[in-house]
Order: sequence, then structure tokens, then C-alpha cells
Amino acid sequence: MMKNRSQPCVLAVLVSGNGSNLQAIIHRIESGELNARIACVISNNPDAFALTRAKTHNIPGIVHENSGFKGRREYDAALASILQGYGVELVILAGFMRILSDAMVTAFPNAIMNIHPALLPSFPGLHAQQQALDYGVKFSGCTVHFVDCGTDTGPIILQAVVPVKQDDTEETLSTRIQAEEHRTFSEAVRLFIEGRISVNGRLVRIQT
Ligand code: GRF
Repeated sequence: MMKNRSQPCVLAVLVSGNGSNLQAIIHRIESGELNARIACVISNNPDAFALTRAKTHNIPGIVHENSGFKGRREYDAALASILQGYGVELVILAGFMRILSDAMVTAFPNAIMNIHPALLPSFPGLHAQQQALDYGVKFSGCTVHFVDCGTDTGPIILQAVVPVKQDDTEETLSTRIQAEEHRTFSEAVRLFIEGRISVNGRLVRIQT
């Protein structure tokens, strides 16, 4: 159902590295394109540059390290309670290098989004761009999807296509895909904020 919000949507962005997708979302919030507020940025990597980006924009940065937990469920349960404490409505995985368990997925049903640098279901997992180059596809791209307990298997929200060039390297293809990631991820977040996404099984419908 379309939402007319009086309050900005409360987001959390989970990261492990550079944070260029985080930056793109911050930019769209600051420019007024997204009616949202990032309550916190959470990283499993204390050295993630994304934490520096958060600090620059006065967003609380939290390090939730991999160590000290018995397993994935325990880590995720602690993560879910941090997010619930901030009143988070949408969890954004922007280069967060962990697979989530049911402890997170059931805490935020159809409210966790991930961006993957390939056209799923092709090339899930790590090094998706190199997988695409090795396979010889002529087009690749990016996929925004809701997160389930699998690796890049959840319902697909949006995709964008980019051409693969003959002389592409993993780096040049990644750069071309990233430009689309930044646009597509923000667009999916906007659709969520506006209440225009509905999910039926693995089918996502967007209200136009
Ligand atoms: C992106 O390529 C995204 O598709 C993948 O992780 C990378 C994160 O990049 N899930 P950044 O940290 O947002 O720059």
C-alpha cells in the first residue's frame, strides 16, 4: 500500500568495506530525494572506509565484529537487537560480507535489501564480475533483492543491465556496474519508503 509518510523512514546500512553504495544513499537523503534517515551504519570490519564516511555525515558507526559469538545465529540475534533498538524499518546490506541466518531474516521480514553485482540468478556469491567475464556473457549488471537465508537467492526487486566489453577486466566491469548499483539501490529504497513494493512468494510487484 502506498505510504504518505510524515516521518522519514528509519534505515540502517550494513557494510564491510568501501561504502560507495552507502555514500550514494547518503547523497540522496541529503539532497531530499529520499525521505529517510540513516539511524546507524554497522560494520563487521573495524577498518571499513564506510565507517569514515558515516562519521563525516554524523551518522553513528557501530563495529559489530565477527569474533566473540558462538555462531552465525548468535551474531545475528545480537545484530537484530541493535537494529531494533534503533527502531530500524529497512536494513540495507551495502557490501556486507556475511550471509544472514534466520535470526536476522525473521526479525526483518521483507525488510532487508542486498545489492549484488550481477544479474541474478547468474553468478551469485563472491567475484560475480569475474565469474561473468570467465563465462563470456555479453551483458551483466546488478540486482537489488530482498534477503533470505540463502546466498543471493531472495526475491528480486530491481535489476539494471550493463554491457560487457571485450577488453574488460574485473576492475573496469566493476566500475561500470557500480554506477548502476548506486542508481538502482537508491531507487529500490525509494520504492520501499513509498510503500510501493509487495512480495508474493518470490515475486515482487511494484505499484506504479
Ligand atoms: C558492491 O559491488 C556490491 O554489489 C557488493 O559489494 C560491493 C560494495 O561496494 N555487494 P561498496 O562498499 O558499496 O563500494
